Amino acid sequence: MRICIIGLGAVGQGVAQVFAMKRERIKKDYGLDLNLVAAADSRGAAICGDGLDPRLLLETKRNSGKVANYPEYGVPGISSLEVLDGVEYDCLVEVTPTNIEDGEPARSHMLKAMKNGKSVVTSNKGPLSLFFRELVGTAQNNDVEFKFEASVGGAMPIINFAHETLSGCEIKSVYGILNGTTNYILSRMAKEGSPYYQTLNEAQELGIAETNPSQDVDGIDAACKVVILANSIMKRDVTYKDVDVEGISRITPESIALAQKEGYLIKLIGEASPDSLEVSPRLVREGSPFSVDGTMNVATLKTDLADDVTVVGRGAGSIETASAILSDLISIWKARG
Ligand code: HSE
Repeated sequence: MRICIIGLGAVGQGVAQVFAMKRERIKKDYGLDLNLVAAADSRGAAICGDGLDPRLLLETKRNSGKVANYPEYGVPGISSLEVLDGVEYDCLVEVTPTNIEDGEPARSHMLKAMKNGKSVVTSNKGPLSLFFRELVGTAQNNDVEFKFEASVGGAMPIINFAHETLSGCEIKSVYGILNGTTNYILSRMAKEGSPYYQTLNEAQELGIAETNPSQDVDGIDAACKVVILANSIMKRDVTYKDVDVEGISRITPESIALAQKEGYLIKLIGEASPDSLEVSPRLVREGSPFSVDGTMNVATLKTDLADDVTVVGRGAGSIETASAILSDLISIWKARG
């Protein structure tokens, strides 16, 4: 499968790293050759029909900041849309930074790829939470695969899990911790009394926060995930603007200590139900499945047949998110052959 990656930030680099680690194993297990034919960032691209070396790509990006410095095959200044028009590939991995204002440039990248008959895998929450129906409809009209497991909960299985493992059930509501950065901050504040801003800086250094971290702390990132879940597993037709959102910036060390005294933790919870779309800090019982630490995410799906099903996993992180992208690529390969 010829793959084109647009975006070489934390997630894109994680994908390249996972390709380097797993290419041989995936070929052996599934007959799928992950052939990275192009990689683009905002300043150019590296393009090679015979395949780029993901290790060299990572080294080039990390050392020089630009994929266009890739030896021999670097193309400085070429735009991502030009790459998508000029390169022969089968599947786009779209991992540019989330833009919650208009979903760009990711929306244009994905629509172009789909209209050109290419499948798309993404972790990009902006376009999914603003233009979900347009993207899914364009994929259907062009008979291509469109997968986005990595957009919600990183490595925590939820979208494909609901569609495949719980396929006979109606999902009545979803309730969960859907943002790793705020969970990291809140659990560090609760356990070690770490100051808010210092912990936020650490989350940025770990590459788990969004490019603009206010998307995490103001609840925007979690709200995007609520929308993606509502649309994809509850068949609603909503956008980010339909969610009532409150972030964690008003949570003080004193309120955390007070909650702990009563046996509770404060967590940022996202909920999608037939009558509410909401993100807000709420109390969860210490020792409950929701008392997870660090970058863990957790979600309970309320179903008609299976009652409550709860999933847990690392909600953020470059390799963790790339693991979900890899599984989407494998399932496209299995579906298309
Ligand atoms: N910034 C996001 C988080 C990344 O902290 O959960 C994963 O979507």
